[in-house]
Amino acid sequence: MTETAQHSIRHFLDLSDLDAPTLRAILDMAGALKERLKKGERPQLLKDKVLAMIFERESTRTRISFDVGMRQLGGETLMLSGREMQLSREETVSDTARVLSRFVDAVMIRILSHDDLLELAGAASIPVINGLTHLSHPCQIMADIMTYEEHRGDISGARVAWVGDANNVLASWIHATAIFGNRLHIAVPDALGPSQGMLADIAAAGDRIEVTNDPRDACAGADLVITDTWVSMGDKEADKRRKILEPYRVDDALMACTAPDSLFMHCLPAHRGDEVTSSVIDGPKSVVFDEAENRLHAQKAILAHVFGIDRLP
Ligand code: CP
Ligand code: NVA
Repeated sequence: MTETAQHSIRHFLDLSDLDAPTLRAILDMAGALKERLKKGERPQLLKDKVLAMIFERESTRTRISFDVGMRQLGGETLMLSGREMQLSREETVSDTARVLSRFVDAVMIRILSHDDLLELAGAASIPVINGLTHLSHPCQIMADIMTYEEHRGDISGARVAWVGDANNVLASWIHATAIFGNRLHIAVPDALGPSQGMLADIAAAGDRIEVTNDPRDACAGADLVITDTWVSMGDKEADKRRKILEPYRVDDALMACTAPDSLFMHCLPAHRGDEVTSSVIDGPKSVVFDEAENRLHAQKAILAHVFGIDRLP
């Protein structure tokens, strides 16, 4: 593989790797594919292409939306678990990448180590998609922005509040904020605050991101409130985390501080009674199941993008 060919591979590793027009084009494609599907049309953009999916950790939405999305586009999938591969017996990530590149057309991987994701992409001669690492979850945020804009229009200028843990989903929201022009008000406890890497990304977004430890400050006048589990995959000391995060539960009192037509999102899986009350996640402001559905449409658009397809026939 020449250096030029390597650079021309369209990976989807982090939103911060892509520019605004590219991400906008993917969102437009997602909307167009959703409309076509509602009319019963399934453009066969990826006929005969094979996507390998490697899951080192559990998944419902990512796994099913990529699998169904690939089939709707005319392609096929291979569902692989890290445990069943020689990866679990110390075959290197880069050898695995080179071998997969001889068999399949693209790889989607959920792996906790972000360094391993980068090693895989660096050694692969086919596109690699980040299906979640401990550091980021870019596919999720494409579906989140699509969902917000379907309900409320252009996200630029919207006030988004993140309440809870400074985790991988927040990291990708920080990347998105630098690109999409919204504001992001983050309420996290000091004891579980942003990492150094996240602080650097926050600084890079300029004055559009603010960090506080007061959920009410973050949610005042918010157009969108987002939270996520208090214990992400791979996190240790679950009980300690729950205790620290107890004041960060999204409940009706907190939602009462937000704008009158605010929305609530959660990437799911949710833990009712921990990070969010049932009254909020199952209440009128919640769009969590639209958000989950949009994983399918966003995933299809991300697949089209990595395969170099920028418009529908
Ligand atoms: N939101 C999300 O990525 O869900 P899964 O873990 O079920 O894939
Ligand atoms: N932050 C969560 C997201 C799950 C989709 C985790 O990493 O477990």
